[in-house]
Amino acid sequence: MWIAKDVASLREYRAKAHGRVALVPTMGALHDGHVSLIKRAHEIGHTVIVSLFVNPTQFAPHEDLEKYPRPFEADVKKCLDAGVDGLFAPTVDAMYPPEVVGCDVNVPELAQVLEGASRPTHFAGVCRVVAKLFNMVKPHAACFGMKDYQQLTILRAMVEDLAFDIQIEACPTIREDDGLAMSSRNVYLEGDQRQHALGLSKALKEAVQMVHTGESDPAIIQQVMKQVMQAHHVAVDYAVIRHAHTLRELDNIDISLSGSIVALVAGKVGNVRLIDNMVIKATP
Ligand code: PAF
Repeated sequence: MWIAKDVASLREYRAKAHGRVALVPTMGALHDGHVSLIKRAHEIGHTVIVSLFVNPTQFAPHEDLEKYPRPFEADVKKCLDAGVDGLFAPTVDAMYPPEVVGCDVNVPELAQVLEGASRPTHFAGVCRVVAKLFNMVKPHAACFGMKDYQQLTILRAMVEDLAFDIQIEACPTIREDDGLAMSSRNVYLEGDQRQHALGLSKALKEAVQMVHTGESDPAIIQQVMKQVMQAHHVAVDYAVIRHAHTLRELDNIDISLSGSIVALVAGKVGNVRLIDNMVIKATP
């Protein structure tokens, strides 16, 4: 497995890559969720490249950029074990050369709601770094987890509007046995917080159940989701039902007519901000 820490070395390796190249963009601290993205990348590509980069432009000044876990050696080992062909782990200066004038990449209509309401600059940072990664790595396909549902929706919109010729592969959320969605931030959970964090997945399961048993009023479902989270000591940021493609609010749920819908939650357990979601389809 090659490891490139700057764009020139990446391009040298990339020029020798064979067949379809599948990229798995990550911020490191790899867990089984990332390993499942790598597995999917092997299925849809001949060469698998993982990027490891804790992207400063997607963190607000008060967020956890400094303390975000960076277990580089462990990440390299996980990539080796998963049969990754190449690792792109640029420095901040390699990714954002200080002498280069920066450019905005954004999908404002989708980026200001939900996560964007609490993190107004987050998705512009995500779009910018992913657009850069796409131009640097030149993959044929890229795998993203459905755990970050809004991110996936926004990146699909970016790829469509900016005409990147890249297949975006959505990979299912990987959960712990008790339902907690895997996340690099779960390492911050201490003591009882691990149990409290289950409030998110339990609220989502309740929403799925309510839709499948005929509840059609999003307000009623949202209220129940909130209650479940609060009962688990989660400080709720949002607990909503939205259209799965546009993320728009729904007046009424008619799952057979409107296609898929998605339930999305975010909240804080202590100081740890967690998100989760479940897509609700017509058939259970
Ligand atoms: O989902 C992530 O880990 C990050 O937002 C991404 C897509 C790697 C961009 O930094």
